Amino acid sequence: MRKHDVVVVGAGLAGQRAALAAIDAGREVAVFSKLHPLRSHSGAAQGGINAAVGKEDSVDTHIYDTVKGSDYLGDQDAIEFFCREAGPTVVEMEHFGTIFNRSADGSLARRPFGGAGFPRTIYAADRTGLALLQALWERLGTEEFTLYEEWDLTSLVVREGTVRGIVAFDRRKGEFALIEAKAVVMATGPFGRVYGRTTNAHSCTGDGVAAAYAVGAALKDMEFVQFHPTALLESGILITEGARGEGGLLKNALGERFMSKYAPHVFELASRDVVSRAIVTEILEGRGFPGGYVHLELMHLGKERIESRLQEICDFARHFAGVDPVTQPLPISPAQHYMMGGIGTDIHGATNVRGLFAAGEAACVSIHGSNRLGGNSLLETLVFGKEAGIAAAAYAAHASVSSLTEDDLATAIAPIRAWSHRTDGEDPSVLRSEMQRVMDQYVGIYRTEADLLEGVRRIRELKKRFARIRVVDQSLVYNVNLSDALEVGHMLELAEVIVVGAYARTESRGAHSRRDYPTRDDAHWMKHTIAHRGADGPQLSYAPVAFTRWEPKERVY
Ligand code: FUM
Repeated sequence: MRKHDVVVVGAGLAGQRAALAAIDAGREVAVFSKLHPLRSHSGAAQGGINAAVGKEDSVDTHIYDTVKGSDYLGDQDAIEFFCREAGPTVVEMEHFGTIFNRSADGSLARRPFGGAGFPRTIYAADRTGLALLQALWERLGTEEFTLYEEWDLTSLVVREGTVRGIVAFDRRKGEFALIEAKAVVMATGPFGRVYGRTTNAHSCTGDGVAAAYAVGAALKDMEFVQFHPTALLESGILITEGARGEGGLLKNALGERFMSKYAPHVFELASRDVVSRAIVTEILEGRGFPGGYVHLELMHLGKERIESRLQEICDFARHFAGVDPVTQPLPISPAQHYMMGGIGTDIHGATNVRGLFAAGEAACVSIHGSNRLGGNSLLETLVFGKEAGIAAAAYAAHASVSSLTEDDLATAIAPIRAWSHRTDGEDPSVLRSEMQRVMDQYVGIYRTEADLLEGVRRIRELKKRFARIRVVDQSLVYNVNLSDALEVGHMLELAEVIVVGAYARTESRGAHSRRDYPTRDDAHWMKHTIAHRGADGPQLSYAPVAFTRWEPKERVY
């Protein structure tokens, strides 16, 4: 049986940074990924990474902006730690070889981003995530570790409340395996594919979050789903906030720069929840273009600036929307982009399950509260990936070895094997599409009790149907039908937690906007939602928010 000190699941920025930290701490490490690490979703992050490195900026301003952006639900002790780590983290990544854009004086160039008091977002054109991922991968490549590439995570193995390993599926061979581990770091990224209209890659199915939830990990603040204001109309491909940071304008079908009504001080550079609601409001009130979109105009920035600072979105717009941003406005509308919720952790990545750590978008520390600021997520992957790697290594140094057997593997995969033995049953791809339609329709930017109740009912119906799932493809090598079924099972669990949490939270805060409860209700709802898996679905409880220096006040942009 394979055995490792520290198993990291996920090879995006958080997973790689965790692996590097655990190796630096002297542990033997294995990294599991369902993709080649350089194809991880971190590489899709475009606009930049926040750090208050400018003379006029300060760490305190970064902290305040993040607290305010979170609509005061972010834990202020964690946010303070996070923002203090920003400068050293960016410098470290530069030393690892990340080619950031430079200002004329040679310093790191910074662009304005939504909800930020100063231009604080350091960037590599509009491929910042990819630039970071390549540099970190090269750095990690200088170390000894085992890479399991193209493996699906199926479950965690827990005995007496302690993580003992994982069960995973080797896509290339079609084999399940039990891998013993003293510590496991979940860094499987987002689960935006529970929605149909999303900027997330197809791989973003929350396998690690669902596996953690299944063994008793607490999921935190799952109802807070970020919708990015500017996604290309049909494909949902991200058009970076950097486009507005560079001076892009949002206009409705009447030619009005409508953000003046919703954010009279900063217009297009309000926080994402505010801008997304503004766009949807314009469309719903009849001032959008037929088909439901508004325009993002960049033409006034000039060809040189557009093509040098926003290279990737030029390609995307030309290839996927048939529009040239140099001469034409981009048709955009919001799309699901980021999950504020995830596996609850402390600032060192520790969860409530012994031996289980989490980092990156799979985790909820919580620094983003009910709304994340753009540019804080790349930073989150690196700051908390490193912390989780250090903590997992320290834990593994003293953890006892487990004694799992092949029987444990057989028990774990028996239900999955049954999917392939059925002669009739549900098609996973049909359930996936139906789940995505339900989430798009009932659990979107604006929410109501009636919609959320219907959402709960429909997701539970889909879960019942999933119990009759059938895998038709009997082949061993690259059995996409089986991988699809595994992912759909994970996503249905997470969709249920999102919608149940959203139904319960009878207020509007950050990205959670209830038409029937339109205001923030600090008296009753200044608290984190905690979800544990129960026999009949998520069991909700609540936990206090940590305050240090900033009293809640109304958010105005
Ligand atoms: O708009 C963007 O470039 C996305 C950045 C982020 O989500 O942090």
